[in-house]
Amino acid sequence: MKRTPIAAGNWKLNKNSNEAKSFFAELIKSRPQSQNCEIIIAPVAISIESSVEAVQGSGIKIAGQNCYHKNSGAFTGELSPSLLKAAGCTHCLTGHSERRSYFKETDKDLSLKNKAVIEEGLTAIFCIGETLEEREAKQVEQVLERQLTYGLEGVDFTATQLIIAYEPVWAIGTGRVASPTDAQSAHAFIRTVLTRLYGESTAQSLRILYGGSVSPDNIADLISQPEIDGALVGGASLKPELFLPIISAIEASHA
Ligand code: 13P
Repeated sequence: MKRTPIAAGNWKLNKNSNEAKSFFAELIKSRPQSQNCEIIIAPVAISIESSVEAVQGSGIKIAGQNCYHKNSGAFTGELSPSLLKAAGCTHCLTGHSERRSYFKETDKDLSLKNKAVIEEGLTAIFCIGETLEEREAKQVEQVLERQLTYGLEGVDFTATQLIIAYEPVWAIGTGRVASPTDAQSAHAFIRTVLTRLYGESTAQSLRILYGGSVSPDNIADLISQPEIDGALVGGASLKPELFLPIISAIEASHA
């Protein structure tokens, strides 16, 4: 099964509208033209509209970093899937470990969120991954299986409406990337669980991204693994000179 690879950037709490516009101007100017890779960037919510405008015609897609599971009502400070869509987003991250740990999002919250995002016609980039303690306690598979089973409970989707991002928490922002073999085996396990839950054809079509200290130096080894369909990049997605070689390596591996 040929899966189109993805280079995704999560800007977290970085870049105002002007900084976002400059980033895209530079990325679009320097980007090589072979286009067998989807590029998705998740700016902060307030920079989404200027980002959507800046990427017009380039094929680059814009994602929300988070949203609430309801589309309207008395939910001060929240953002809805329908607002993201109206602003021009095509994707939304769900379940990032920073949301799970700092904002106490549970598997149940995430099933509601995944459902709302997908029902709105957006693609959910659903993040899962174990903490260091869980890895040391040899609970990686148990944690991934739980996060997938409960985070997707009651969610109907087709293979284009869901992307899984495996982001081991201990690798995020630490410079400590998972080894290609460890990442490959976690991805293979995730696909096995998806096969059991959704059948062979859906599981084979879903893209599974790796995230956690991805850099121009380590992307080639990661993306050469058969179960790794792309990357969700934090720090290195903030600078075109770091993100461009990551895109190129992903494109080259699937050329
Ligand atoms: P870093 O690439 O900075 O480790 O962040 C990864 C991440 O959290 C992407 O969502």
